[in-house]
Amino acid sequence: MKLKNSALIAIIIILIITISIIGVVTFIPKETKPEENITEPSKYSEKATTILKEKKLFTKVNNLDYSKTLEVMLEENTFNEKYLDAYTKIDYEEINDFPTTINNLLNNNYTYQEINYILKNYLSNINILLNMKHINILEFKDISNFDINKLERYLNYSEENDYDLKTVVTYVNIGLDLEGYSEYKTYTLEEAKDITILVNKYHKLPDNYEPDDLVSLSYNQNYKLRKEAAEAFEELTSAGVLENVIFYPFSPYRSFATQNILYNRYKQVDGEKVADTYSARPGFSEHQLGLAVDIRSSNLTDNLTKEHYEWMLNNSYKYGFIIRYPKGKQNITQYIEEPWHIRYLGIDLATKVHDSGLTYDEYYDIYMEKR
Ligand code: DAL
Ligand code: ZN
Repeated sequence: MKLKNSALIAIIIILIITISIIGVVTFIPKETKPEENITEPSKYSEKATTILKEKKLFTKVNNLDYSKTLEVMLEENTFNEKYLDAYTKIDYEEINDFPTTINNLLNNNYTYQEINYILKNYLSNINILLNMKHINILEFKDISNFDINKLERYLNYSEENDYDLKTVVTYVNIGLDLEGYSEYKTYTLEEAKDITILVNKYHKLPDNYEPDDLVSLSYNQNYKLRKEAAEAFEELTSAGVLENVIFYPFSPYRSFATQNILYNRYKQVDGEKVADTYSARPGFSEHQLGLAVDIRSSNLTDNLTKEHYEWMLNNSYKYGFIIRYPKGKQNITQYIEEPWHIRYLGIDLATKVHDSGLTYDEYYDIYMEKR
């Protein structure tokens, strides 16, 4: 028994000694070969090679593919050993302050993948990224309407709202992070003629814009729309009649002056805040385009029946019209539901907008806004 114990103790001691030796041997600093004597041909410039050898990195680096970025970092005395691996994977770009830019991005925790993406796509806007803390730029990669100039606004809006990034980008592009009318683009007289332009609380028409091709609707000589829209409206009306959907226009083209009178009347009655939910301020109404018309189901009320509205939703696009302020979209259009307000866009575009299920504000930003 005693003997057995002694043997066991001996084995344990031997084991401990063996493990210790292995440990010590493993951690003894290896004798590193001085690299100055290496004669192997270098892929790098003389200066870069000297630095690499001094730092005992030559063999390692020279065995990898040549990296212009790494060479420049060494040449410009901006080499930071902890970024060696990243340098070898970053694509070189011909810009003045390339080395400092790269180091700043790396210091800002950007990965080489992110840096290559940034260099490829946002070279001219790189300062925007350098002036803010690290962001997951690749998350925006597949968002076609992403605009780097609005990055700060996306981030703020995203923090305040529970939307996915794609929605955040579109909503901010529309302007929804800003109060309506606080910032807007004013179209030129030439731009205003475009059948497809977006008019909303962020896009204004010139005060003196009047379409030059207004024609009367058959229903009432005083009711006018632009020629193309008027003809399409007659076709829409006829198509409705065939299906026993009979409706009447009651507010087509309105000049800036008329919209001004209307809006101010509403404002007096309901106050600005409420008036803004259902009436556009002068210059901001689609009615001034001569491409929008309000319709109703009877000459006696301003209403469009549910059935007629349904029919419009499913058919008006075939004649070039869309429902501009649909139900449940007030947060986007900035107007309460207006089943009666239809906007002419032409058959092709109206069909696309209809099929997209988007409001025109969203559609315009995603597919039509020039960036
Ligand atoms: N009611 C719509 C928004 C307009 O005034 O143009
Ligand atoms: Zn209207």
